[in-house]
Amino acid sequence: MIAIRVKDLVKKYKNGVQALDGLTLTVNEGEIFSLLGPNGAGKSTLINVLTTFLRPTSGSVILFGKDAAHEAAAIRTQISCVAQRTSIDSHLSLTENMMFQSRLYRVPKPEAQNRMKSLISCFGLERYLKYPVSSYSGGVKRRLDIALNMMSKPKVLFLDEPTVGMDIQSRMAMWDMVKKIRNDFGTTIFLTTHYLEEADQLSDTICIMKNGKEVLQGSPNALREYLRQDMLKINFPSKEEARNSFEPLKSVIELKESDLRHDKIITSLKNGHVDLEKANRWLLEHDIPFLGIEIMQPTLEDVFIRLTGEDAKEAS
Ligand SMILES: Nc1ncnc2c1ncn2[C@@H]1O[C@H](COP(=O)(O)OP(=O)(O)OP(=O)(O)O)[C@@H](O)[C@H]1O
Ligand SMILES: [Mg+2]
Repeated sequence: MIAIRVKDLVKKYKNGVQALDGLTLTVNEGEIFSLLGPNGAGKSTLINVLTTFLRPTSGSVILFGKDAAHEAAAIRTQISCVAQRTSIDSHLSLTENMMFQSRLYRVPKPEAQNRMKSLISCFGLERYLKYPVSSYSGGVKRRLDIALNMMSKPKVLFLDEPTVGMDIQSRMAMWDMVKKIRNDFGTTIFLTTHYLEEADQLSDTICIMKNGKEVLQGSPNALREYLRQDMLKINFPSKEEARNSFEPLKSVIELKESDLRHDKIITSLKNGHVDLEKANRWLLEHDIPFLGIEIMQPTLEDVFIRLTGEDAKEAS
C-alpha cells in the first residue's frame, strides 16, 4: 500500500520564493524513506506541507488515501513530526513527558501507561529514568523526543534531520531506533538528512531533490547503479596540494570543478585505464606529493554530487 502520494506539488512563499516546483514522489507503507538535498532544496518546506502545517500553492498530497487539502484534521491524528527543536519539557521527568504527550492525543490513561512502558523498554530508555531530563545528552533527548512522538501510534513518523550534530555513537543508536520503529511497529518513516552514509544505511528508498523538484528516487543500490562508470580517486596529503594540482591536471585529463573534493580529486573515468595512466605519469613526472591513485566504485556521495552539482556534508 502507498502511504504518501505527492503529485506536482508547488509551494510559493509570499516573498516570491518557489520552494517546491512541481515535486512528485511516492512513499510505500512501512518503509524508511529518506529525502536528501542540498541546503535550500525545499526539504523542510515539503515536510511542513506533508504534515499539513503549510498549504501548498498547487498540486496534491494524499496520505493513506486522505487528501491533505480537505482532510487535514484527520491526517494530523495519524502522523507525528519530530522537528529540529525538541518538544521535551526539561522540568518534567521522562515518564511525565510521555504521559503529557498522551494527553495531547487523548490516549486513555491505562493505555497510555502500557504504551509508555513498552516504548521505554523497546528503545532502551530504562537506564535514564533515574536521572533528570535536563541532564540528558543531545542524542538521548532526541531519542526521548521520538519515543514521545510514538505515544500516539502514528502511521507516519516525520523526522527532520534526526542526527544532525551527533557523534557517531549517538548516530548509530538513533539508526537502531529508527529501524526498530519500522520493524516492530510497522510505522512508515519519512526523514530528511544531509548525511549520505545515513541515507545509505537506513533507507529502503532515497529521494534526491534539488531546487524544489525530485531528481532521482530509488533504493540505495539502484541509485548507485545510476553511476555505472568507475571513478578515479587521487589522494593528496592536504587540501592545498590537491588544489595546486587541480588546474594543471585539467590539461591532462578531463575534470569538472566539482571533482576537487577537500584533499582529493575524484572524477568519473571517461577513458578508463588510459586516464589513470596519464594522470599517474603526470603526477610522477612533476614530483607531486600524492598519497595514492586508484579506480573505485561510485559511492552514493558521487551520485549526489553528480545530480545536484553540490558537495554533501561529510558524516563525522
Ligand atoms: N517561511 C519562508 N518564507 C519565505 N521563504 C522561505 C521560507 N522558508 C523557506 N524559504 C525558502 O524556501 C527555500 C527552501 O527552503 P527549505 O527550508 O525548505 O530548504 P531545506 O531543503 O530544508 O534546506 P536546509 O537543508 O537548509 O534545511 C529556500 O530558498 C528558503 O530560503
Ligand atoms: Mg531544512
